[in-house]
Amino acid sequence: MTTKNILVTGGAGFIGSNFINYILLLRDDYFIINLDKLTYAGNLENLKPSEGKKNYHFVKGDICNNELVDYLFKKYSIKFVINFAAESHVDRSILGSEIFYRTNVVGTNVLLEAALRYETEKFIQISTDEVYGSLGLSGSFTEQSQLSPNSPYSSSKAAADLAALAFYHTYGLPVVITRCSNNYGQFQFPEKLIPLMIINSINNKKLPVYGDGLNVRDWIYVVDHIKAAELIFEKGRPGEVYNIGANREMKNIEIVKLILNKLGKGEELIEFVKDRAGHDRRYAIDSSKIQNELGWKPVFQFEQAINDTIDWYQQNKNWWERIISGEYKKYYEVQYKNR
Ligand code: NAD
Ligand code: TYD
Repeated sequence: MTTKNILVTGGAGFIGSNFINYILLLRDDYFIINLDKLTYAGNLENLKPSEGKKNYHFVKGDICNNELVDYLFKKYSIKFVINFAAESHVDRSILGSEIFYRTNVVGTNVLLEAALRYETEKFIQISTDEVYGSLGLSGSFTEQSQLSPNSPYSSSKAAADLAALAFYHTYGLPVVITRCSNNYGQFQFPEKLIPLMIINSINNKKLPVYGDGLNVRDWIYVVDHIKAAELIFEKGRPGEVYNIGANREMKNIEIVKLILNKLGKGEELIEFVKDRAGHDRRYAIDSSKIQNELGWKPVFQFEQAINDTIDWYQQNKNWWERIISGEYKKYYEVQYKNR
């Protein structure tokens, strides 16, 4: 059995930790080195199931740190990279964009340069459907859709995608890009719509719905996303982009009401607040390419998976109570003050 030494970045965040825990349960032919800066969004508690495994090693550090990244490639003979590390929240990018361009663009470039020096065999750049911008009432994003990002977050992700593709075209670095729609599931940081609304409902706090609540997002359970990422890592063709989505468009207000209903709370908790600046109206993803070419398809039903997610937050108060009493409290006050 040949072991693949994989540098996974951002593995202490929501999707990265789900990916590592899932992968290490199934595969002993992967050795994962998890490089994570442990920003406000990084949490080693998410990785309890993987701690102590022989084929797992955690390193605290920044993907922008050239020397550290070079050292890790050399020390662990890294031949594979999966880059989840990012500043990931649109509202924070509106409050301050600098760290978004630093981590998401400069950090990705540091990884690409190292990958080139050490002749990496596959580099997966985890991107987002938000790079395509916003849709009208109909249609969906394909891999051919124009890049038209609207927020500092999505523009930084689009820049990283273009850098990764440029390394493929210029140097032949085997880069593959994934563009997934909105994820939900366990370990998602409470700043994002679904966990924020679950936690506020549990705590009988107001649910701040931006604008008219009719913006649409296309939801996918995190486990469907990480299985797609694994398949793309194994079989995706270099230089290609693969959209990932589960065909589940929902208006924000529908999600909010569903959460209230499941938790037995009344709609008087809903509060329509000032809209997000530059708020994208609608996302919808066409994932026929990965379905036809690689044979992936989403397997989780939204109704079941959102119920499981709500149950998880109800059963894991310790996890999020520690979060909402820390740095997050200050962020919440700034973000939702005067809305
Ligand atoms: P997250 O914010 O929960 O986690 C990000 C992780 O990256 C954290 O552990 C953080 O500590 C780490 N990190 C941040 N800056 C770093 C740096 N400079 N060096 C090393 N580590 C750093 O984000 P997430 O929701 O898990 O998203 C993971 C990836 O998936 C991101 O690239 C994001 O753009 C992409 N994505 C997310 C979604 C979604 O719905 N959440 C959808 C599509 C794509
Ligand atoms: P979010 O989870 O931040 O993801 P995205 O990257 O798609 O913006 O937000 C999802 C949707 O929910 C988006 O249309 C903004 C809206 N939203 C609210 O209405 N209220 C909130 O407090 C938050 C965080 C989001």
